[in-house]
Amino acid sequence: MASDRLSARLGPIELRSPLIAASGTVGSVWEWTEVADVSPFGAAVAKSVAPVEWPGRPAPRLAPAGPGMLNGIGIQNPGIEVWVEKMTPVLPTLKIPVWGSVVGETPDEFAMVAKGLLSAGVPVVEVNLSCPNLDDGRMFSLDAARAAEVVAAVAATADVPVGAKLSPNADDVVGVAAACLAAGATFLTLTNTLLGFGVDLETARPLLNGGVGGYSGPGLKPVSLRCVYEVASALPGTPIVGCGGVTTGADVVEYLLAGASAVALGTVLLAEPRAGTRIVRELGRELDRRGVTLDALVGGVIPW
Ligand SMILES: Cc1cc2nc3c(=O)[nH]c(=O)nc-3n(C[C@H](O)[C@H](O)[C@H](O)COP(=O)(O)O)c2cc1C
Repeated sequence: MASDRLSARLGPIELRSPLIAASGTVGSVWEWTEVADVSPFGAAVAKSVAPVEWPGRPAPRLAPAGPGMLNGIGIQNPGIEVWVEKMTPVLPTLKIPVWGSVVGETPDEFAMVAKGLLSAGVPVVEVNLSCPNLDDGRMFSLDAARAAEVVAAVAATADVPVGAKLSPNADDVVGVAAACLAAGATFLTLTNTLLGFGVDLETARPLLNGGVGGYSGPGLKPVSLRCVYEVASALPGTPIVGCGGVTTGADVVEYLLAGASAVALGTVLLAEPRAGTRIVRELGRELDRRGVTLDALVGGVIPW
């Protein structure tokens, strides 16, 4: 489905398509491959995995909110040991490269989980520094030094490309990005969800049991795009996966122009698991209309 002209390059990583399925929105990937054609995608990122099983937060943990949704899943996952046992035989059977995603509470925990993911055969590790639903307080990606410590620990363990997934809530996303790159990140994923909150007007309770959660979907797009634009402008040549609110091929073009080399789809896949087929078709039409290659779009925004 993804033709040669849609092949993309994210630093040293070659992708058959610039579309990537975002972590947490396609399960451990195999479930999604049973309902969707994965050929429009260059890769899919599995749900983040922690050192031990995390049960996640109690329901309700998903809620529509304006032009997007709130989630407070809390990284429900089986722990790295079970993940490796289940996924090692499955990964080679899937028709898409599956990237691993690590989460933890200390740099050593991140490194330990990355080691497990590599033993299962993932070709790329994404470091989730930006989950808003952890109870231990602040996200690593709000602080350049803490984020860099985690990236360095994972990069020292991994002989594959390592991506740092950052938060749109950081005061200084460029500073955090620069620190992660200096610590060994191969690419950046910009961004995870934005901290959000909503109230059920009938019950006066928060929409999510956990109260504050992560906001995603179309309402997030201008914020994530701003992060991509700021980082690409300040650190030219940085390999970036744009992520936040993409629902159309035109959205993908916008991320490429802002400086992303690849674009991840999240919330749209929850509502429309086969959205990749439509979006890759729309992207092809956008390229035809402009008479350009994908490469030519990357960072092509023209200043006033
Ligand atoms: C239900 C749900 C679960 C998510 N779980 C994870 C996760 O485990 N790890 C992660 O890095 N991001 C996770 N995310 C964030 C998405 O990967 C993505 O960064 C975010 O939703 C923004 O993209 P979107 O607007 O296209 O959804 C999750 C998002 C949602 C909606």
